[in-house]
Amino acid sequence: SQSPASGGGWLLILIFLSTVTTLLVPPSHPGPSLCFFLQVLLVFAKEDSQSDAFWWACDRAGFRCNIARTPESAIECFLDKHHEIIVIDGRHSRYFEPEKVYGNNSFLSLHRLPDQEEPSVLPLLCAGFSRRFVENSSVSACYNELIQIEHGEVRCQFKLRACNSVFTALEHCQEAVEITSEDHIIQYVNPSFERMMGYHKGELIGKELTELPKSDKNRADLLDTINTCIKKGKEWQGIYYARKKSGDSIQQDVKIVPVIGQGGKIRHFVAIKRPRMDNNNQVNEIKKNKSHEHLYNTESHLVVTRNAEVSLCFVCFNVQRCKRDIITLLETQVINIINAAQESSPVTVAEALDRVLEILRTTELYSPQLASKDDDPHTNDLVGGLMSDGLRRLSGNEYVFNKNLSQSQLAIPVTLNDIPPSIAEMLNDEEHWEFNILELEAATHKRPLTYLGLKIFTTFGVCDFLNCSEATLRSWLQLIEANYHSSNSYHNSTHAADVLHATAYFLRKERVKSHLEQLDEVAALIAATVHDVDHPGRTNSFLCNAGSELAILYNDTAVLESHHAALAFQLTVRDSKSNIFKNIDRNQFRTLRQAIIDMVLATEMTRHFEHVSKFVNSINKPIAAIEETSTSTNIRNSPENRLLIKRMLIKCADVANPCRPLELCIEWAGRISEEYFAQTDEEKRQGLPVVMPVFDRNTCSVPKSQISFIDYFITDMFDAWDAFASLPNLIEHLSENYNYWKNLDERKCKSLRPPPPS
Ligand SMILES: *[C@@H]1O[C@H](CO)[C@@H](O)[C@H](O)[C@H]1NC(C)=O
Ligand SMILES: *[C@@H]1O[C@H](CO)[C@@H](O)[C@H](O)[C@H]1NC(C)=O
Ligand SMILES: *[C@@H]1O[C@H](CO)[C@@H](O)[C@H](O)[C@H]1NC(C)=O
Ligand SMILES: *[C@@H]1O[C@H](CO)[C@@H](O)[C@H](O)[C@H]1NC(C)=O
Ligand SMILES: *[C@@H]1O[C@H](CO)[C@@H](O)[C@H](O)[C@H]1NC(C)=O
Ligand SMILES: *[C@@H]1O[C@H](CO)[C@@H](O)[C@H](O)[C@H]1NC(C)=O
Ligand SMILES: *[C@@H]1O[C@H](CO)[C@@H](O)[C@H](O)[C@H]1NC(C)=O
Repeated sequence: SQSPASGGGWLLILIFLSTVTTLLVPPSHPGPSLCFFLQVLLVFAKEDSQSDAFWWACDRAGFRCNIARTPESAIECFLDKHHEIIVIDGRHSRYFEPEKVYGNNSFLSLHRLPDQEEPSVLPLLCAGFSRRFVENSSVSACYNELIQIEHGEVRCQFKLRACNSVFTALEHCQEAVEITSEDHIIQYVNPSFERMMGYHKGELIGKELTELPKSDKNRADLLDTINTCIKKGKEWQGIYYARKKSGDSIQQDVKIVPVIGQGGKIRHFVAIKRPRMDNNNQVNEIKKNKSHEHLYNTESHLVVTRNAEVSLCFVCFNVQRCKRDIITLLETQVINIINAAQESSPVTVAEALDRVLEILRTTELYSPQLASKDDDPHTNDLVGGLMSDGLRRLSGNEYVFNKNLSQSQLAIPVTLNDIPPSIAEMLNDEEHWEFNILELEAATHKRPLTYLGLKIFTTFGVCDFLNCSEATLRSWLQLIEANYHSSNSYHNSTHAADVLHATAYFLRKERVKSHLEQLDEVAALIAATVHDVDHPGRTNSFLCNAGSELAILYNDTAVLESHHAALAFQLTVRDSKSNIFKNIDRNQFRTLRQAIIDMVLATEMTRHFEHVSKFVNSINKPIAAIEETSTSTNIRNSPENRLLIKRMLIKCADVANPCRPLELCIEWAGRISEEYFAQTDEEKRQGLPVVMPVFDRNTCSVPKSQISFIDYFITDMFDAWDAFASLPNLIEHLSENYNYWKNLDERKCKSLRPPPPS
């Protein structure tokens, strides 16, 4: 009523952008869209025609509206909803005077002002008020005001915020992106661009494109063609040779898009570039091949530059169902490309490509990422549970590891002489694959590892190799066995003994023996013995989700395997009486230690396919090639090859259950299922993500889970291992066991054994 302006009072409108709102911008949309309801807060002491008018205007505009009557309730309401627009009644300065409104989006404070003539505009603007609205109780006037604000300030703010996201995307995308002004001055390049071209952005920004050195490989008229096209406001797409800072040319797939600004004028050009394989465009052809489409994400480029410097950009496979596909892909596709390139290249290039082939075959360029879209939930869960390092860790949910090593102190040493005759006799069978480890488990009162270890280590001359006494070995075996958890239904020392047994069995195979040295054998036997020590009976994913101490210690990466390897050495060297390494020299210890750690880490499943395909490519293939041409069947005994063989050996020993005689296979399947069930139970109890939902004791089909496991992980691996080591009996058991599970599954039986005939 006491209005400072002629006749009408002021209403103050504050545009407030709350931090909690999120924004989605559809790519094709010209501007940011408001994917939510705009919220308006009316701060009016009394209801009157003006507040009614705003209320109805909000209704018409489809905005959500709250009304607050006191400063306190206004603040409370704002903190709850974070309105984008706040309308404050400034006509009754005695009730509400905004002295200050803090723009931190954190709080809003309204204070009564001392009586004062007229609010001057500047302090209000400083306080965050963006508009003044002269009293007008027509709904249309209020509606127009709100709509103007929405399309003006609010959208602007959102656009600014959207810009942040867009730039974040640019900074992280794999394509090289360059933005120039209409007159071709470089205004922006992203990090991928810097990497691809070898420049630092500081060297480019502000430069004219014409100032940069050009490659002489382009057709002379290419630049004119491009310019003509983009000057018309059209997009240009094609192949272009650019010159890197180093002087080399790089062939690129390029797309240049003009950015049209106000009045239809071209304001910028955006160029998006990716490196391209210049050998008959093969990579792109392959990408078009539907039969392998699912194997590709988008990147698979080989860049061959002029001076024979070969760089592999990405061999990045996004694989849903890999299995054989990866191996097939590597050979028949990438390797073919390189071979083709070699044929048509000068000697220097061909030699460089040889190195690339070598790298591809032996290093760690690829590792499949399994998407979880597979049809089979069992495979999915196994993959998720065994091959991934867990979902994002949940906070405040500490899984406390049992660090109780007191067990080991309680262990009472036995002397080897005390081995009861029945056990000694049983151990005579140890060389057979069909050896019954479960009988040994029972006969030794749950100490199969110590007894079997003594027998096997002695047979392989481990004590002689390490120059250690049998007493030390015995004490070490007991110590290690004591640190397996007897309470785990699968990962207890019987599993370790079983893996040790398989390892020894493989080491005795002629082909394996001829490729390995004694140090490799000793390392393999020790690695098998310790490979799951102190296993908590939970998977890596679980530990990561539960935020266990170990997951934190090992950054969620190969958590268990790292722990097994580390603890094994800690335990071993802690006490001289059980330190089997105490008499070997430092160099030998280092080599042995390296080999043991490498093998223990190789049991981690995330790199399963990588290990298998490296083995096939570096060992099986070359052997097959040699066999075709000569009578000798041995490949080079290089350290790299020995490494691959050892990894494959322990991996196969670790998951050999499905290749054991049926009765053993069934027992192991029961134990592993029980351990997974226990994990699922605990996940449910603790409210953690369930990493392998199919392993729910109420619903699980054990036959189905075994079938998936065999299909996915076992068959190919053992085929490859059999091709090398010759293990026909294992393959026979595998096939028998597989049929057993298939048969149960066809009968819709979910348990380990068929129901008794009624
Ligand atoms: C946030 O509020 C404080 C407290 O009044 C003020 O000094 C500061 O400038 C504000 N910061 C921003 C970014 O608005
Ligand atoms: C109120 O707004 C309406 C519509 O915008 C306009 O026609 C009218 O003149 C305004 N009344 C006053 C008193 O300004
Ligand atoms: C696509 O891949 C399949 C299987 O590798 C192959 O047989 C076929 O020839 C390929 N087609 C083309 C067009 O390259
Ligand atoms: C550790 O072991 C001792 C003796 O076996 C036992 O009393 C104690 O409860 C254990 N502590 C934990 C945390 O398991
Ligand atoms: C074996 O170890 C003993 C110490 O226990 C040492 O005296 C001896 O020289 C070692 N023998 C060899 C061959 O290293
Ligand atoms: C391993 O777990 C099984 C239960 O699945 C149990 O019967 C066996 O005794 C355990 N073995 C050892 C050595 O703890
Ligand atoms: C875990 O990550 C941190 C930070 O990157 C690093 O310093 C540390 O060495 C890592 N630890 C392991 C065991 O990889």
